[in-house]
Amino acid sequence: MDQLQNKTAVITGGNSGIGYATAADFLAKGAKVLITGRKPEAVQQAVAALGGEIDSFIADQGKINDSQKLAEYVRDRYGKIDILFVNAGVAAFASFADVTEASFDTVMDINLKGAFFTVQHLLPLINEGGTIILLSSVNALAGMPGAVVYSASKAGLNSLGRTLSRELASRKIRVNIVNPGPVATPILEKAGIPKEAISEEQLAKALPIGRIGQPEEIAKLVSFLASDDASFITGAEYNIDGGISVHPLIG
Ligand SMILES: NC(=O)c1ccc[n+]([C@@H]2O[C@H](COP(=O)([O-])OP(=O)(O)OC[C@H]3O[C@@H](n4cnc5c(N)ncnc54)[C@H](OP(=O)(O)O)[C@@H]3O)[C@@H](O)[C@H]2O)c1
Repeated sequence: MDQLQNKTAVITGGNSGIGYATAADFLAKGAKVLITGRKPEAVQQAVAALGGEIDSFIADQGKINDSQKLAEYVRDRYGKIDILFVNAGVAAFASFADVTEASFDTVMDINLKGAFFTVQHLLPLINEGGTIILLSSVNALAGMPGAVVYSASKAGLNSLGRTLSRELASRKIRVNIVNPGPVATPILEKAGIPKEAISEEQLAKALPIGRIGQPEEIAKLVSFLASDDASFITGAEYNIDGGISVHPLIG
């Protein structure tokens, strides 16, 4: 249970869902953890619930100035870190014709541009032997109607991860990408989709495994990738999706 002992981790968007579950798992495995979030009250509640060696910083990861301030805080407080989990993200659904410039920018600013500059600002603080994990989605690889901007933002993130894994290999920083399928978090409700419109039961039918994922299941994969047990893994993409990405030829 001490795979992350003596490691310091930054998790963006740690006040709910997968980021929160990963913060809990990192803490249980001995890491010091800083979570970010844009809503002070939600972040405070998460910090109180997590306990342990937890710290927080209020930052809107869609704003480059905020990621710069985050990097300054992390440098002053910790000097260096070992793990950066770029998790903050939003979903949005609209058919292609209905996408506006504003809705396009909101998703891209957080999911892709924000992720890009969060890594750029924190990179000088990542120790040799450290690791970056980008939380993407199976949407990066699929063609789901109504998810055109979200999918493009995540495809861009996967591309960023592949390139970074090569650029950072000489610094011995590993970069990996995690592509979850449907997971039980509030992300769809936050995107304005009422719970009853997409029930867990409905989603579960689309998954070979017969159920959607839990945030804790994603957290375990992220913790493994963050640990030295994954020391030979870089530039890899992991689908963690109950088998939804496997297309049967028949049936
Ligand atoms: N749940 C799924 O089915 C699923 C599937 C594939 C991929 N993902 C990806 O998993 C990641 C985590 O999502 P989740 O499902 O765990 O949803 P979630 O519970 O809504 O978690 C997202 C986290 O990111 C934060 N966040 C969003 N925009 C932010 C911003 N501009 N600045 C700072 N923090 C921000 C959220 O804070 P607020 O509380 O302020 O919104 C929240 O803490 C996302 O990148 C998402 O795209 C989710």
